[in-house]
Amino acid sequence: MLTAKNISKNLKVSKKPSKYKKTASPVPFPVLKHNGTSLKHNVTGLIKEQDASYVEVDKQIIVSRASYPADLYFNRNSIQIYNTDILKTESIKKNSIDLIVTSPPYNVDIQYNSHNDTMDYGDYLSFTKKWLERCYDFLKDDGRFCLNIPLDKNKGGQQSVCADITTIAKQIGFKYHSTIIWNEQNISRRTAWGSWLSASAPYVIAPVEVIVILYKKEWKKTSGSRKSDITKREFMEWTNGVWNFSGESKKRIGHPAPFPLELPRRCIKLFSFVGDTILDPFLGSGSTLLACRQTDRKGIGIDIDKKYCELAKKRILTEGRINQLKFDTV
Ligand SMILES: C[S@@+](CC[C@H](N)C(=O)[O-])C[C@H]1O[C@@H](n2cnc3c(N)ncnc32)[C@H](O)[C@@H]1O
Repeated sequence: MLTAKNISKNLKVSKKPSKYKKTASPVPFPVLKHNGTSLKHNVTGLIKEQDASYVEVDKQIIVSRASYPADLYFNRNSIQIYNTDILKTESIKKNSIDLIVTSPPYNVDIQYNSHNDTMDYGDYLSFTKKWLERCYDFLKDDGRFCLNIPLDKNKGGQQSVCADITTIAKQIGFKYHSTIIWNEQNISRRTAWGSWLSASAPYVIAPVEVIVILYKKEWKKTSGSRKSDITKREFMEWTNGVWNFSGESKKRIGHPAPFPLELPRRCIKLFSFVGDTILDPFLGSGSTLLACRQTDRKGIGIDIDKKYCELAKKRILTEGRINQLKFDTV
């Protein structure tokens, strides 16, 4: 059981300030500051950990669930996970995001828990249009978008996926900046040659993915800390638009389609300032949020599947250096 007494024992807290006296807290509650920000929620005095009407928003800070977005799954050290549908959530403010880094479902029959990855191609593009519209609204005017998608699709009928999605994004209002080729260096054993040693109907397959770089209105970034943390070597290497690093193991991560941490890490350091807010609307195993932790950015991740949210949370707690929190008194 977590009590205000326990909280007080572990933290230096001020005596109840008069402006908070009127709340219905059963015992005096502490007023805490975290990273200089007052936590003004009603920290309740006597809380049963299993009580569903309360939610843990930070280490040892528990607030009434009613005062928090219903879809908030995890919130600690400027990292938030929402278990919700990107098409429906009301929890992300418009014009609030500096950079989106994401890899949506590719519609290539991957067995996700809560998403059908075998849509008709037309339906897939309609779904794409809907979530791209939402992302456009979430971005600041100088906000940017790193979109990891396939170059094309060969199975189940050839499709120019990158060209089609880029065209939709531009119709929505996004501006095109450039495309990075991600060479996964995955020389898999090919079996689909089409017509072997014949010009009748050969298949050409490019074993790469792309990261399309888009922006909302202005490419030049004017908001934010203006503090960059990219090294000279990284800048010179990464501004060459062919990136060579391996993919991530599904088995090791426990998710059917993770991208490697290196992908969001490069995008974040190259395209955002320290302290910026980064969004991944298709969070999966949480790679983008781990990269946010490593680079001192605020991170927001959304996934429709609760198990993937839990996986992302566990990765952040174990690999993301979220352990000790220091609270200052008011
Ligand atoms: C390609 S995976 C993302 C993998 C992620 N980049 C990683 O490193 O683990 C796509 C994710 O989108 C999620 N998803 C599918 N439809 C969604 C929706 N409508 N809203 C939010 N998440 C969705 C799936 O559950 C899946 O985890």
